[in-house]
Amino acid sequence: MTESLFCGVNDPADASNLTDMEKKHVPVIEAPDTVTAGEAFEVTIKVGSMPHVMEEAHHIQWIDLYSGSNFITKVILTPVFMIAKATINMVKSGAHETTTLRAVIRCNVHGMWECEKVITVK
Ligand SMILES: [Fe+2]
Repeated sequence: MTESLFCGVNDPADASNLTDMEKKHVPVIEAPDTVTAGEAFEVTIKVGSMPHVMEEAHHIQWIDLYSGSNFITKVILTPVFMIAKATINMVKSGAHETTTLRAVIRCNVHGMWECEKVITVK
């Protein structure tokens, strides 16, 4: 029995050797490796390393961003008019030396996928 793509968050079978389907869904976080406390920085999330279609019948519905266990934002995407990419302006207080940015996305056909990037806060 095949597990449903809509049961939980999907993980690639082999993270070092993604299939084309995984490349189109596993999001990529672009952010500085090191940021300065109190200074704004940009976090760009794109879906994925291979572009995903944004057609009426098949598209990325939303992108969520977390910093550690804190929910930061949800970007709702509209097919046809948008691409599967979002840039968020963030600031970190410096209360923690590192933080893990986590992006979760959902495709209306292929379910939820996630990725993480650790950044250092000086
Ligand atoms: Fe998809």
